[in-house]
Amino acid sequence: VREDSTSVAEYVANYITTRIKEFGPSLARPFVLGLPTGSSPIEVYRILTAKYKAGEDEYVGIPRDHPQSYHSFMWHYFFSHVNVRPENVHILNGNAEDLESECAQFETAIEALGGINLFLAGIGEDGHIAFNEPGSSLASRTRVKTLAYDTILANSRFFGNDVNQVPKMALTVGVQTILDAKEVVTVALGARKAVALQKCIENGVNHMWTLSALQLHRHSMVVADEDATLEL
Ligand code: GLP
Repeated sequence: VREDSTSVAEYVANYITTRIKEFGPSLARPFVLGLPTGSSPIEVYRILTAKYKAGEDEYVGIPRDHPQSYHSFMWHYFFSHVNVRPENVHILNGNAEDLESECAQFETAIEALGGINLFLAGIGEDGHIAFNEPGSSLASRTRVKTLAYDTILANSRFFGNDVNQVPKMALTVGVQTILDAKEVVTVALGARKAVALQKCIENGVNHMWTLSALQLHRHSMVVADEDATLEL
């Protein structure tokens, strides 16, 4: 627990940088990061100067260059500011003709890279991780997911507060895809995450609060500001 969002971001950015340094330069394979969108990691991206990634989720049905697409988000907040080679960036394509095969290819790409070293996550107000909405199978892999109304409502702030503008579906890594990462670091900021954090940490593993699946992970950490811990 850190006092505020700035100290959370500093801690997480420093943690990730240390992990990458420990891994060291490798010709055999890169250090693979899974990186989330949302407001929580923005400050981490400002601080970070790390290099490699595999994107976690993407809306279905909005163009790639839409300002709220997760493609635009990641380039805007992170990739344009670091020395990243585009071939090292993997973001799910929500406009692919065959969404199922897009998801399958994403899993194959992760596997070909030797798996995800560190998966950075946020947490939804309904306890989702990536776009694994309540009721998701804890064994799920990358797939198309219909968004819960709560998520559409929460994300409408990025779409002029108009729920009709928010995509209704998204592509997302599955809970099992995340559990397969060698390490998972979750950022939880603000009082609006307090209930979800309590359900995911203090209750049992539950597919209605999908981040709770991380209780099964041997190397998982939540970094929260004080407001997010109000219900603990
Ligand atoms: C979104 C994303 C998640 C993100 C979460 C929280 O819907 N799919 O990856 O972690 O909701 O977003 P925020 O950090 O803006 O609260």
